[in-house]
Amino acid sequence: MMTPYLLMAALYFSLAALMALDAALVNLTLLPWFNGMRWLRIHFITLGILTQLLYGMLPLVVALRARLPKPAIRWDIWATLNGGIMLLLIGIPLVSGVPIFAGGTLIFIATILLIIQLAQLKQTAVSATDGAAVHDGRKFYIAGLGYFLLGIILGTGMWIGWMEPLRVAVPVETHIHANNWGLMSLVFAGLLIDMYPQWFKRPFPAPQSSNTIFWLMTLGAFGLIFGPWFAAQTLLVVGLVLHLTATLWLLYAVIKPIWGDKKAWTIGVTHLTASYIWILAPVLVAPFVLLGVPGLPGRTIETTAPQALIYGWLLQFAFAALPYALMRLFQPDKTSGLGGSWFSFWTVNIGSVFLWASIFIASASGVLAGIAYMLWMIAMLPILAQSWRIVRGGLARFEDKNLAVSAGD
Ligand code: HEM
Repeated sequence: MMTPYLLMAALYFSLAALMALDAALVNLTLLPWFNGMRWLRIHFITLGILTQLLYGMLPLVVALRARLPKPAIRWDIWATLNGGIMLLLIGIPLVSGVPIFAGGTLIFIATILLIIQLAQLKQTAVSATDGAAVHDGRKFYIAGLGYFLLGIILGTGMWIGWMEPLRVAVPVETHIHANNWGLMSLVFAGLLIDMYPQWFKRPFPAPQSSNTIFWLMTLGAFGLIFGPWFAAQTLLVVGLVLHLTATLWLLYAVIKPIWGDKKAWTIGVTHLTASYIWILAPVLVAPFVLLGVPGLPGRTIETTAPQALIYGWLLQFAFAALPYALMRLFQPDKTSGLGGSWFSFWTVNIGSVFLWASIFIASASGVLAGIAYMLWMIAMLPILAQSWRIVRGGLARFEDKNLAVSAGD
């Protein structure tokens, strides 16, 4: 059972909502800033919600696709991932080298173990099944996790002096690129392909393109990571073009079969697809920043745009995927659909519009960003309630069963 990961995801979800509220109040100057606030806010979502969701789901999804039995939980991976996250939660706000190094190392080990587990699921599958095209998403997961290893090295090494020996020209940007364009883009693409029949209620329409999409995205991520790493602008731009082509191709494949079919646009499907708007927004602005068009607040875009990417894209994707995964694991006998609500759809997306507005309307930027975080926090509430309801229902049944067993003893 992978439930311990998802229990952690639900817990971090609650903390992420609290941090969004805090960010709103800080931007509206109603609360003071505190050390590590910015880091915690982002990483409760990325490391807290998303890695738990992914580390819990990926072995199951790969096994399901390969028609293998459900893999048992790997407590070694769970403990190294969560132990590592906890050490970072202490180390980064304190800027303390030892827990940062220990935390990063544990998460690195968890990731290597997960890569090995996913790689091994294939070997068994080849002998167990006809081996034909059952592994569409798996290569996306393994490549994405491979890029995460770079992201971890950069995130961990940033404050303990590794950037010079590694010759990293722009550390934070390179770290964000490794995790967003490497890890998250690839893993989400694999999930969209693998889970298409369950999420979109029809077979994935373009299985023959998945290989090309994979290579375009993997090479694109390479350019997007090593471009800023070595201050090689051309590599960055080539990477951006390849990555964007892959993303648009994937979105075209995903959306085409349901285009015009109103009933297919459930709230979950709308959340998943709309989340990609917030990838495209910075990409559309990037050429103007690179060309140094006068009047564009390039610095502000660089520091603020990642927030919209995290809340608008990653978090919104999780709005749909997390309740689905919780339902599958905690209440497996009930049918599970994607999560989400129209209320959270509008609030999360209007929140992202406000954040972008805060970039361009400098005179009101604090208030606009404050409203953005408030909307994001409000958007989380129905999903949070939905998630805890599922968890509570599942755990209550588990306890009832235990009571019945002990009463019968
Ligand atoms: C072991 C894992 C990780 C470590 C050690 C780590 C560490 C860091 C550090 C040290 C910073 C710089 C903060 C600053 O300069 O104020 C940072 C920023 C950032 N990280 Fe991570 N990180 C990790 C995982 C992730 C993941 C999985 C993502 C997913 C996308 C991510 C996304 C970001 C973003 C978007 C920022 C910029 C935050 C901002 O603009 O305030 N990180 N991270």
